[in-house]
Amino acid sequence: MYISKLVAPIVTLFLYLGEGNVVEALTGSQFAAIPFDYIIVGGGTAGLVVANRLSANPHIKVGVLEAGADGLDDDIIYTPGKVGWAVGTSYDWNFETIEQPVLGDRKLGWSRGKALGGSSAINFYVWMRGNKIDYDSWSALGNPGWDYNSMVPYFKKPETFHEPSPSDATNFKLDFVTSDHGSTGPINTCYSNTWNGAHQYWHDTLINLGVPRRDTFGGSNWGVWTGLTSVNPVNRTRSYSASEYWRPYSYRTNFHVLTNAMVKKVNIQSVGGHQTATGVEFTWGGNTYTANAAAEVVLSAGTVQSPQLLELSGVGNPTYLNAAGITVKVNSPHVGENLQDRIMTVMMYEIDDEISNQDPLKDPVELADALDEYHTNHTGLLTVTPTDFAYVPLRYYLNSTYVNTLRGMVTGTDDRTLHIKSKLNHTKDLGSMEFVFDPNLLFPLITPEPGKKYGTVFQMLQYPFSTGNIHIGPAVGGISPTADDHPLIDPKYYEGDGIVDLYTMVEAQKFADSIARENPLNANVIGQRVFPPEPAPGTETDWEQFVKDFTISDWHPIGTCAMSGLGINKGVVDEKLRVHGVKKLRVVDASIIPVQISSHLQGTVYAIAEKGADMILEDFQCKRRRRRGRRCRHH
Ligand SMILES: Cc1cc2nc3c(=O)[nH]c(=O)nc-3n(C[C@H](O)[C@H](O)[C@H](O)COP(=O)(O)OP(=O)(O)OC[C@H]3O[C@@H](n4cnc5c(N)ncnc54)[C@H](O)[C@@H]3O)c2cc1C
Ligand SMILES: *[C@@H]1O[C@H](CO)[C@@H](O)[C@H](O)[C@H]1NC(C)=O
Ligand SMILES: *[C@@H]1O[C@H](CO)[C@@H](O)[C@H](O)[C@H]1NC(C)=O
Ligand SMILES: *[C@@H]1O[C@H](CO)[C@@H](O)[C@H](O)[C@H]1NC(C)=O
Ligand SMILES: *[C@@H]1O[C@H](CO)[C@@H](O)[C@H](O)[C@H]1NC(C)=O
Repeated sequence: MYISKLVAPIVTLFLYLGEGNVVEALTGSQFAAIPFDYIIVGGGTAGLVVANRLSANPHIKVGVLEAGADGLDDDIIYTPGKVGWAVGTSYDWNFETIEQPVLGDRKLGWSRGKALGGSSAINFYVWMRGNKIDYDSWSALGNPGWDYNSMVPYFKKPETFHEPSPSDATNFKLDFVTSDHGSTGPINTCYSNTWNGAHQYWHDTLINLGVPRRDTFGGSNWGVWTGLTSVNPVNRTRSYSASEYWRPYSYRTNFHVLTNAMVKKVNIQSVGGHQTATGVEFTWGGNTYTANAAAEVVLSAGTVQSPQLLELSGVGNPTYLNAAGITVKVNSPHVGENLQDRIMTVMMYEIDDEISNQDPLKDPVELADALDEYHTNHTGLLTVTPTDFAYVPLRYYLNSTYVNTLRGMVTGTDDRTLHIKSKLNHTKDLGSMEFVFDPNLLFPLITPEPGKKYGTVFQMLQYPFSTGNIHIGPAVGGISPTADDHPLIDPKYYEGDGIVDLYTMVEAQKFADSIARENPLNANVIGQRVFPPEPAPGTETDWEQFVKDFTISDWHPIGTCAMSGLGINKGVVDEKLRVHGVKKLRVVDASIIPVQISSHLQGTVYAIAEKGADMILEDFQCKRRRRRGRRCRHH
């Protein structure tokens, strides 16, 4: 089953350079000829942040290699109301997991952005932050400097928060504390200006289930709230790494971005007895090139491809490298391990005709009207994204006896598992499960009946025990895999201690259903359940079977280049994001996150990239001072 929108949009593939943009059209050979200080692999969410901050110093030459195309002027990327439309297109790597035994051997679709901006170009616009203890766990796992309080400046640095008007704040139930947000960063965040028809009932429905309205940016994110979005409020377009960290700075003569360029491996050589990154090998327009980096190579290829590229470059577990016919340069046992994905199920209900806001976009006449309104007034259907969220603590859907039963099932005793286990606690005010309602049929799991409209209840587990891995495949017929071969993604959903995730999802499913049954949402919007269908009288839905049959990914994988300052036997990079065992090589992206947080990830990935850029710049300045015979405080 592959998850995409019902209507597959047609994508314009060619690279379009908007009028007046100073985008230099480099070729592969021109790029390869530049004597870079830093090469960033992957012009995605994190990669463009790092490249921007480094190239702010005119003495630093920065090159970015991005496999995808520039979609900056493509409306399926920049139009909020077309949320989800780019999933499954050429802007998506369209990965797939290997067969998952507990899920009936299903392979799950794994969407990842393949465009300038990476996943920030195709994501669902939600801007948020995890809980204080989520980041404090990162620090406790051997990473000083990554606790919540140290991270707050980096959560703010990427953001310019646009306050809503007082009347909007009242009318649309917007809870915010301005001082918890950034005010000068590149990414614009704002609330919607046009609301889906169910929004007015959402908060009261959750309040009736005992879940309070809360602001979520101060280090505690549970409660019911209205989503903030990464949208430019002036013309209601996507605000993401390509539009904010690249386009306005593309005039910089020391900031070079090459799109449609596929990195094959990092070149690693022994220099003075140390394995050292010297540059990368990449293909562009059918030819292969080498580009050199005097200072460092930074991998920002994301949770799937950063570990893949490390393995292809000879850094990883010898078992996988030998099988692939790749020479081992550094035995790094955690590369590709520690994969933690977010698990999601969706249910569908018939809803009131007037409430649905997406169907009109499928009607050419109404779409034309919506486009007119969008371009003239920057309002209307094409600005609407999902905004109705609740992060709900365990005690709302698990009784204390059962929580203890589930705790008893956890067998892992490693530090990371203990951090996850500490959150499986009946008394803790942590949003362990996310619930969302959107008055749209966002997944093609049912065949819509003519004249009927549908809404979707989402449920997403925040602190999974399920832990898998991503590795390159074995050599086939003596031929080693390359970066063009998708790596083998095995999230091991619900396997091992992950069985606790299954039982947690099953219980929460009943709470999700109770949201749809509660007023005022039920009385005003929601009719009968159609997926899974209402049970026959006197019977009950088999929720366990439902969860096994219909669990999907909600696209938040982390951990495959996990950060641990405690050494190569604990993680892949240290607390400064330097790859253990290799000089001049870092990883800066979602793959370094050692343990899941309760939040959508983009705000945190931007923060990781801002912090990573600061650490790289600090080292750069230090080396310069030392070369001039001066002292430097750092390390
Ligand atoms: C469909 C979807 C919806 C989401 N919704 C939300 C949301 O609403 N809110 C939220 O906070 N988060 C959301 N997320 C998650 C969030 O967007 C990601 O966690 C985050 O953007 C990941 O950033 P990254 O820098 O780690 O990787 P990416 O942004 O994916 O960047 C990796 C880049 O590397 C490039 N690359 C990979 N391999 C190579 C290679 N060999 N050579 C050259 N380039 C390469 C890729 O093309 C890509 O551009 C969503 C994700 C998806 C996929
Ligand atoms: C929206 O505004 C931004 C910032 O001014 C601009 O770069 C972009 O081109 C605009 N997009 C559209 C579709 O008008
Ligand atoms: C834009 O807004 C004005 C004022 O509300 C309204 O009169 C006009 O019809 C709108 N235009 C479009 C195209 O929706
Ligand atoms: C707690 O929940 C479990 C799982 O649903 C159930 O079997 C059990 O009867 C419940 N116990 C109490 C005391 O409600
Ligand atoms: C659950 O959390 C509470 C409060 O933080 C703590 O006192 C208690 O010991 C925890 N329970 C378990 C089983 O860890």
